[in-house]
Amino acid sequence: MKNAAEKKTILVTGGSGYLGQEVCNLLININADFITSTHQRGSLTDQQVFVDLETGDGIKDAIQGKTVILHLASDKKKPDNDVEGMKHLIAEIKKQQSKVHLIYISIVGIDLLPMPYFKQKMMAEQELVNSGVNWSILRATQFHKYVDELLHQFLAYPVGIIPKAVPVQPIDVHVVAEKLVEMTAGVPSHQKKDMGGEEVFEFIELAKSWGKIRHKSKLILNFPLWGRWGKNLKNGALTTADKSSSGMSWESWLTAEYANYLSR
Ligand SMILES: NC(=O)c1ccc[n+]([C@@H]2O[C@H](COP(=O)([O-])OP(=O)(O)OC[C@H]3O[C@@H](n4cnc5c(N)ncnc54)[C@H](OP(=O)(O)O)[C@@H]3O)[C@@H](O)[C@H]2O)c1
Repeated sequence: MKNAAEKKTILVTGGSGYLGQEVCNLLININADFITSTHQRGSLTDQQVFVDLETGDGIKDAIQGKTVILHLASDKKKPDNDVEGMKHLIAEIKKQQSKVHLIYISIVGIDLLPMPYFKQKMMAEQELVNSGVNWSILRATQFHKYVDELLHQFLAYPVGIIPKAVPVQPIDVHVVAEKLVEMTAGVPSHQKKDMGGEEVFEFIELAKSWGKIRHKSKLILNFPLWGRWGKNLKNGALTTADKSSSGMSWESWLTAEYANYLSR
């Protein structure tokens, strides 16, 4: 992997994000030739370029001469940006007649669920698949940290509410980053590949282990889901048979994250 990745010239969009930072650390470790993009105006490091995917500003210079784009940038608060950003990237790649390999990180199950963010990720995938550009898509399940954020929301009040019988398959962000870096050394697959954590839990089990490690016991109501997307969630829309056997388990991640709670 090392030699092949070293020959590539890589742009990482969203390199400052949760996944992006893991990817960048791995690229540094293998001495890869890469820059990251940020849409924060202000002083940039030698390894950063300004790109706003919403407007397309900066894309032209950022992709010039690149052989791989690891496209990780995204904004859950502005889901349309995933589609707009993808369109801007594709347009500029075509304009430059570039053979660049565009690797897009997506999410398992987005075609089965109607949440606005998922719909936009699906549309962005379709833009890429139909673009004529060289591509690969990796769809990952929920990162441990994202599950943790969800649980903070669901269990924010004295009585927690958790959807009933929903399987979730948390994954260590580090193994997703490793897979993406491995893909930079490969050829475009023109395929969507899934990647999930080793263990599948019901959401309520995750809530209980989360409460236990934080020494917070509370009443949790398990509300049933209905309709087509409720059925899809219960049938495992957020899970995949393509499990990664490496990386931190949910329990180990919780223990590491909440070590200070444990010592109280
Ligand atoms: N969270 C999960 O569980 C999960 C699971 C599967 C797949 N994914 C996918 O993985 C990717 C990364 O997720 P993450 O949790 O690491 O996200 P994140 O921490 O929110 O990072 C996303 C980065 O995108 C950049 N960005 C936002 N708006 C931008 C814009 N208009 N133009 C250019 N850059 C912009 C931001 O960097 P700057 O502020 O520096 O510009 C931000 O740091 C996303 O595509 C997400 O859909 C996430």
